[in-house]
Amino acid sequence: MNSTAILGQSLTLANGVVIKNRIAKSAMSEALGTTDNRVTTQLPTLYDAWARGGAGLVITGNVMIDRRALGEPNNVALEDERDLPLLQEWARRGTANGTQLWMQLNHPGKQSPKLVSRRQPVAPSAIPLAPKFKPYFNDPRELTGADIQDIIQRFATAARIAQKAGFTGVQIHGAHGYLVSQFLSPLHNQRKDEWGGSIEHRARFVLNVLSAIRHETGPGFPVGIKMNSADFQRGGFTEEESMQVAEMLAEAGIDLIEISGGTYETPIMTGKDVKESTQAREAYFLEYAEKIRARVKTPLMVTGGFRTAAGMAEAIRSGATDLIGMARPLAVFPALPNDLLQGRLERCDIKPRNTGIKLVDDMAMMELAWYAQQMERIAHGKAPRPDRHPLVGFLQYVYTSALRGFRTQRLRAG
Ligand SMILES: Cc1cc2nc3c(=O)[nH]c(=O)nc-3n(C[C@H](O)[C@H](O)[C@H](O)COP(=O)(O)O)c2cc1C
Repeated sequence: MNSTAILGQSLTLANGVVIKNRIAKSAMSEALGTTDNRVTTQLPTLYDAWARGGAGLVITGNVMIDRRALGEPNNVALEDERDLPLLQEWARRGTANGTQLWMQLNHPGKQSPKLVSRRQPVAPSAIPLAPKFKPYFNDPRELTGADIQDIIQRFATAARIAQKAGFTGVQIHGAHGYLVSQFLSPLHNQRKDEWGGSIEHRARFVLNVLSAIRHETGPGFPVGIKMNSADFQRGGFTEEESMQVAEMLAEAGIDLIEISGGTYETPIMTGKDVKESTQAREAYFLEYAEKIRARVKTPLMVTGGFRTAAGMAEAIRSGATDLIGMARPLAVFPALPNDLLQGRLERCDIKPRNTGIKLVDDMAMMELAWYAQQMERIAHGKAPRPDRHPLVGFLQYVYTSALRGFRTQRLRAG
């Protein structure tokens, strides 16, 4: 079978849900909510472009389950049905063309910057991020047992509303150092109660989130997870532990496991500092996927670094992954899946987005800002601007983040 035929095959999940091809758009935070974290009309426009672009599965940027705990200014927060009509519009446009549209649900835990909240963030244990983050993040407090139960229920409530609005599934954000990932890490979770200690205890939080979502949404509604292959931190969540968690989630009936890696402290998810040999294999987490494949039957999605039809098809042919996850290329070329599936394009290289200022380039956030600006253009019905200089994007980012952060804080203070 040639590459296009392999990528064009459908995938049927255990619950019978069919994903029409093997290309998935991975989550990218759009930051297109209002200052008070409501849904805007720009989101349906953006997701219309991705649905028409041909991906079988589109996963939204992270939607926060608690408006007191944000990852960035202008996140969407989902706690109740006040935005149902706009959510319905988002779901309607995003599921056009037979597209599966899953909402990614997240709680940032301690990775909630001062920019969006003066409030003390929460975490499994009161362990701050590395010292270099001190200027940007307040030190967290330890969650109580009641807080933990409240957060679990919030994941379930958000999933229920997403389902009611017409989203066809949800994904738990269990990667990149946010709350679920903090619970899994022995470095960030040093609790002595039933939520910490052994890997079984550290995994209790995510397993409870999964079962609470299932309870609210029923068995036919897909629930996936994005999880780290490892945190790449000394004393952190290891590859072996990650596989054990994958086995527990598989046992509990998770529908799809997306594999990524890294945290704010070690931002390896976008390929920063990965070995050249790994870059050459395109996907950063493929070796891990090969190992996990031998241990779980759950469909897998690997995200990070895929850029050629041949590389994608080979990853599927080898059996290491079932879906190919892509993020950055789709912020610039939303119709890339159609081009790949119809054989019009063989590769899509995206340049590193460096400003040339070392201090700025070392902060992975700047690259994210460049892509967020491309999404914002699409969301306003404009064409992306792949030629846009990162420095221009950076300056604009500094200005808008300061303004948005200020507005968010003023709102919270009021
Ligand atoms: C602008 C931007 C925003 C992102 N937001 C999220 C997010 O909300 N949730 C998430 O799980 N990953 C997020 N990611 C990570 C991507 O999903 C993906 O794992 C990463 O970009 C590597 O894939 P790629 O090489 O295809 O871009 C984001 C990446 C970018 C560039």
